Amino acid sequence: MAKNAVITGWGYYAPSRVMTNADLEKIVDTSDEWITSRTGIKERRIAAEGETTSSLAARAARAALDKARLRAQDLQLVIVGTASPDYLFPATACLVQSEIGATKAGAFDVEAACTSFISALAIARGMIVSGAIDNALVIGAETLSRLLNWKDRTTCVLFGDGAGAAIVEATNASVGIESTVLHGDGSKGELLMVPAGGSKLPASADTVERGMHFISMAGGEVFKLAVKSMADAAEEAIADAGLTLDDIDLMIPHQANIRIIDGVAKRLRFPSEKVFVNIQRYGNTSAASIPIAICEAEATGRLRQGDKVLLVAFGGGFTWGASVLEWYGAHDGIRPPSPLERAGRVLEDVVERVRPS
Ligand code: UT7
Repeated sequence: MAKNAVITGWGYYAPSRVMTNADLEKIVDTSDEWITSRTGIKERRIAAEGETTSSLAARAARAALDKARLRAQDLQLVIVGTASPDYLFPATACLVQSEIGATKAGAFDVEAACTSFISALAIARGMIVSGAIDNALVIGAETLSRLLNWKDRTTCVLFGDGAGAAIVEATNASVGIESTVLHGDGSKGELLMVPAGGSKLPASADTVERGMHFISMAGGEVFKLAVKSMADAAEEAIADAGLTLDDIDLMIPHQANIRIIDGVAKRLRFPSEKVFVNIQRYGNTSAASIPIAICEAEATGRLRQGDKVLLVAFGGGFTWGASVLEWYGAHDGIRPPSPLERAGRVLEDVVERVRPS
């Protein structure tokens, strides 16, 4: 049985269309000044016509597989965390599984709003450490632009589209995911929801007329609970990993609002220079925000091998959770090379030897 589950590949995809605060000023009664000062957001990405949550997810997944040097057909599980699936069913994970050719993998979605990526990571880790599987593709992907009421300035300025993915693999090395904690409070579900389109209020002319298929949010209430819940979950995950706050090299929080992120750091007395922030360029991409941030933190040298990393999120449901991991990075040494990789290396050696000096 494997001792640990470790991230060996990561990748993201953000749609090419950028919508700035200036663009929003032309649609609703808002201003760059209000959005920037209240949220930290300057721009967000919007999926093109024809792009869907599964197509964004598949692009992120391929990048993560490349990084891990793992073939899609060797995957054992695909989990997609999303609140904006292509369909109520089939699951977006099944669409991704088919799109990338993960022919031997199980596939299902996790719906825990902005906490979906950490929830999916917790499931993958649990199944790997229990010995049930050796690897999993964990994705957070959203096209929230499709669920926004573009006449509602209190929500449409906040969210964006994107996808991030991680390959999680079994290892006997002492690295990887050290703790995961998850919490929920369904009594507050109505404060952040899409009221219609499910079994309680099926789609009808009336629900469409009343705009009930859009995201509705009591922002202030959500804000207050987000700071405390994220800070509590962070402390719990750090303690579960047998660490203290001083051991954490980088915090990667869900990117919902810069004031929430600052509030969590302040409550924890955690130095802001150790907090990764990219909300200014993506807005709130819900389940995708943490995996996109992981990719950007790694690409910009903020995430190095051996770093202790804290992931922490809060979202609709309510749901909240955190995870502590030791970042490993490149897959070498974690998994024995596949026959194909081994053959490739032999070939590289031969070429090296015969090359004239
Ligand atoms: O992903 C996890 C779930 N989501 C979140 O974590 C989001 C949590 N909530 C928030 O981030 C913040 O509550 C918001 C950014 C949504 C709102 O910020 P706020 O400081 O709580 O503003 P507010 O809702 O108290 O509104 C203040 C004023 C209101 O005007 P009045 O009533 O004071 O005259 C709003 O109508 O700002 C107005 N307002 C806007 N003005 C310009 C609300 N949205 C806008 C807007 N542009 N886009």
